[in-house]
Amino acid sequence: MMRLMANNRLKIMSIVGTRPNMMKVAPLLAELRRHNEIAPVLVHTGQHYDYSMSQVFFDQLGVPPPDYNLNVGSGPHYAQTAEIMRKFGDLVQKDRPDMVLVAGDVNSTIACALVAAKERIPVAHVEAGLRSFDRSMPEEINRILTDALSDLLFTTEESANQNLANEGVAPDKIFFVGNLMIDSLVRALKIARPSSLRCELGLRAKPYVVLTLHRPSNVDNEDELKRTLESIAEIAQRLPVVFPAHPRTARNIEAAGLTAVRAWKGGLLPSRGLWMMPPASYLDFLDLIQHAVMVITDSGGVQEETTFLGVPCLTYRENTERPVTVSMGTNRVVGCDPQQLLLSALETLENANHSQHRSARIRPPLWDGRTSPRIVSILKEAAQRDMACTEERVPQ
Ligand code: UD1
Repeated sequence: MMRLMANNRLKIMSIVGTRPNMMKVAPLLAELRRHNEIAPVLVHTGQHYDYSMSQVFFDQLGVPPPDYNLNVGSGPHYAQTAEIMRKFGDLVQKDRPDMVLVAGDVNSTIACALVAAKERIPVAHVEAGLRSFDRSMPEEINRILTDALSDLLFTTEESANQNLANEGVAPDKIFFVGNLMIDSLVRALKIARPSSLRCELGLRAKPYVVLTLHRPSNVDNEDELKRTLESIAEIAQRLPVVFPAHPRTARNIEAAGLTAVRAWKGGLLPSRGLWMMPPASYLDFLDLIQHAVMVITDSGGVQEETTFLGVPCLTYRENTERPVTVSMGTNRVVGCDPQQLLLSALETLENANHSQHRSARIRPPLWDGRTSPRIVSILKEAAQRDMACTEERVPQ
């Protein structure tokens, strides 16, 4: 499947595009760099480009600048995906890798996987096999298509192995390796510096809630966004709600003329207990959720991080593609009804009041911070197998 380069180094091109890609690729890249026989190349598509959505993660995760930045920026899905494909296609003509490694389920993931597959470059997909079974989510389409194109599928939980088997993926392509995002989290916890953000907010020793919202289905409809924020305001009457807002969410709140936007403009500002602010850096965000009484989110990665940290999480969605966070973790999928969100939040806060200690943490299998070395040894074995096959095919 793979060919080793002339100088015997396997050129692996890893793709990042959005904020969550960075936490997945960073630990893997660090591990790839430790192996002389591998030549890692990093491509940033530029899907996310604000300092707080991109560069700050490079800085905090210790990732060197990308070898290439495609600077695609924002746009409708069809245009963004097409632009990534066009620019990435041009790039692989100039600098052809032996393998393309994509992560997660964003537009950059499917765009680069599709280019590579058509160029007959092997594709490795990190976080393969997750399914929400809800095709109204753009990410679900990206996941299904990327998996269909991939040669090596690295999974984070048992449900993903099952989904891929059900879809007829050959078992020898599927590798249950654990969760790269948790590798980053384990490393970050070792740094253990106090967050200046939590101090600034006066929340070093006080209980609070963290909120993140960015899914188009939750933030693009003005009426629904208003109703959601009304429920959040009710929760904020009980405990401060810290709300690092995605640029899309902030823009929609501003467009809807909702008062909280004044907080965004001025940086930090508590508005009746709701602290809306620009996106937090990786380390500040981890520190915030680690010490929160409860997290409310529509993100995928945050469901996993809260499970690892043992922090109660309410997922403001109709479904999750990460069921292990519910069956073994701290996650509850509460649906997208603001009234139900409020009831579930009050119930969770009530339970938190009664239990002095957080329940003993059960962590999903292989979420141990050692996923990167597992992936790299599989990549090396796959390359060796391929070399052996090529040698067998060469006539003596
Ligand atoms: C993307 C992913 C989503 C992931 C999320 C993480 C897809 C289909 N979606 O959603 O799965 O959970 O990233 O954050 O790929 N914007 C900025 N600055 C930026 C980036 C975005 O202002 O640096 C604004 C732009 O107005 C843009 C909007 O946010 O149009 C949406 O950005 P986009 O990359 O299209 O999708 P996300 O909502 O970030």
